[in-house]
Amino acid sequence: MNERGSPKEAGDSIRIGFIGAGKVGFSLGKYFAEHDVHVSGYYSRNLDSSKEAAIFTNSKYYEKIEDLIIESDTLFLTVSDQAIGKVYSEIQKYNLSGKILAHCSGAMTSEIFSGISQKGALGCSVHPICAVSSKQTGYRDLSKAYFTIEGNDNNQLLSLLQKCGNPVELLSSEYKIKYHGAAVFASNLVIGLYHKAAEMLKACGLSEEFSKKALEPLFLQNCNNIVTKGVVSSLTGPIERGDDGTVRKHLAVLEEEEKTLYQLLSRELLLVAKEKNPERNYEKMEEVLKNNIL
Ligand SMILES: NC(=O)c1ccc[n+]([C@@H]2O[C@H](COP(=O)([O-])OP(=O)(O)OC[C@H]3O[C@@H](n4cnc5c(N)ncnc54)[C@H](OP(=O)(O)O)[C@@H]3O)[C@@H](O)[C@H]2O)c1
Repeated sequence: MNERGSPKEAGDSIRIGFIGAGKVGFSLGKYFAEHDVHVSGYYSRNLDSSKEAAIFTNSKYYEKIEDLIIESDTLFLTVSDQAIGKVYSEIQKYNLSGKILAHCSGAMTSEIFSGISQKGALGCSVHPICAVSSKQTGYRDLSKAYFTIEGNDNNQLLSLLQKCGNPVELLSSEYKIKYHGAAVFASNLVIGLYHKAAEMLKACGLSEEFSKKALEPLFLQNCNNIVTKGVVSSLTGPIERGDDGTVRKHLAVLEEEEKTLYQLLSRELLLVAKEKNPERNYEKMEEVLKNNIL
């Protein structure tokens, strides 16, 4: 809190405390500590987790949640999504005046912090668009992460993350679920596609091991092209060439669900293909992709 008794202005030095010593709590704490941000320490469900996180980040562990609250200006609730509301209910009995509360859920908004302004505090969600899969090494991935902030943080965390070198943008609450859906498209759903491709190779009589491995170079090269050259330059294949004969042959051998998946994703590719080749006539392809969808 600053002298005016309100949440600090961007640029004031802040003490950051973590409730929840899991993968994100460990990683953000270490990341901030490495950028000379004052990390007060950790309170977690299990004392051993708090102790481990305190050692890892050279900060303190707290046996009482109230002590962490007193010694922190900003509190990150880095617990599982299901526990955020429960922890917020628990800490409401303490003085939160002048504090910023943040959670890191990609799908939930700051609305979980209901009535927070009456407590003289601010609430926001701060989401790193990356997978944090390890307590020990996750902080390294955070240096490359883009962040979004939804809710009200008085520009403090925005400015802090920018100083750490992370690109950050503000996200409106109404789009939070759609935003999370976009992240699922780029990560989890790609796993679904990879799995489907490997299953189809196996169905062609190839061994399981070969099927998994054979796709690797193709997949990695494609990912690399997408991030270095963008989707338009990366697009190759029958849709881009306007080869509706090959697309018809594919559709003829696919199972019903596979056909739906293929057609829906190909329609998306068609938008990219048109951008790449504005002079090309894709009418026949449009016709093939329109048929039999759902
Ligand atoms: N992992 C990711 O890739 C990722 C990426 C972006 C955002 N997020 C978000 O970050 C948040 C944390 O995720 P995570 O992956 O770090 O989860 P996690 O590894 O499961 O860690 C959550 C920790 O919270 C503690 N905890 C649970 N309930 C608690 C309670 N009632 N009081 C105090 N501590 C409690 C547990 O600590 P104990 O060990 O003490 O039981 C647990 O280790 C979630 O909102 C998630 O959506 C995760």
